[in-house]
Amino acid sequence: MKIRKAVIPVAGLGTRFLPATKAIPKEMMTIVDRPTIQYIVEEVVASGIDQIIFVTSEGKSAIENHFDYNFHLDSVLREKNKVALGEELNNISNLIDIVSVRQKKPLGLGHAIWTARHVIGNEPFMVLLGDDMVLSNIPCAKQMISLFDEIGESIVAIQRVPQNQTHRYGIVEGEENGRDKTYRVRRMVEKPAPGTTDSDMAIIGRYILMPDIFEILSTTTPGHGGEIQLTDALLALTKKRSMYAYEFDGKRYDAGDKMGYLKAIVAYGIRHTEIGKDFREHLIEIAADL
Ligand code: UTP
Repeated sequence: MKIRKAVIPVAGLGTRFLPATKAIPKEMMTIVDRPTIQYIVEEVVASGIDQIIFVTSEGKSAIENHFDYNFHLDSVLREKNKVALGEELNNISNLIDIVSVRQKKPLGLGHAIWTARHVIGNEPFMVLLGDDMVLSNIPCAKQMISLFDEIGESIVAIQRVPQNQTHRYGIVEGEENGRDKTYRVRRMVEKPAPGTTDSDMAIIGRYILMPDIFEILSTTTPGHGGEIQLTDALLALTKKRSMYAYEFDGKRYDAGDKMGYLKAIVAYGIRHTEIGKDFREHLIEIAADL
């Protein structure tokens, strides 16, 4: 089956980035000239998906507004003869069909995804976390969809992390599968205590899930941090059917974390078509002064 829909949960509180995220959703924080969430929506569009489902919460309307048509702004830009800018803004709102569902309480990522069950129905779908950015030649979602077209089972994107960092991630244990960079998942655990796993395969914010996950999520009880964890539901899914971990090509940035956000600004800044060259030179100047 084709992957037609992508769920992007954006209902989290963003406590790691307070006070910046008190009144502004973390997904609206800017990387060079556009909000984080726009990069993720562009990845979805470039991967051939037809529809996005935002899982939102109170205080996140700026995200929906960003992808909506702004009649007033459009007229003002036309009056001021800023046609190209107006068209660029309209392109954002025309990128893809977007709907929103509301997560009434921040009960966890697993619960956020479950909230989208009626819009997804009975088909496999993609999940992209609203603050996880992946810089790559081929969009990460597209790489995963190509793999899904071959194997037709759930896939989690993974990256290797140092052993002393595994407690910050969902960790996958599994075996090589004969396919390059693909592993059959045996076990997964959310934020394992140090020393409790030998694996360095950390789950990042890209998943392709079979719809069976919804039934499992409906009975998943709160886990780590008192939240309904997607990782717990994924582990239950591996008992029913095969699941694969895929070491994608590219570099992932956690833009919901202060350090990850700064790294993303530098990575995207030095590649920017308009200011990239000047920014690189500026960084070299700064480095000389350090
Ligand atoms: P995070 O843990 O990164 O997001 O969740 P958070 O809770 O907003 O951030 P901190 O830890 O307090 O700083 C991963 C993703 O899951 C979404 C978040 O919006 C983020 O995209 N999420 C998390 C929800 O949509 N609902 C939730 O109840 C929890």
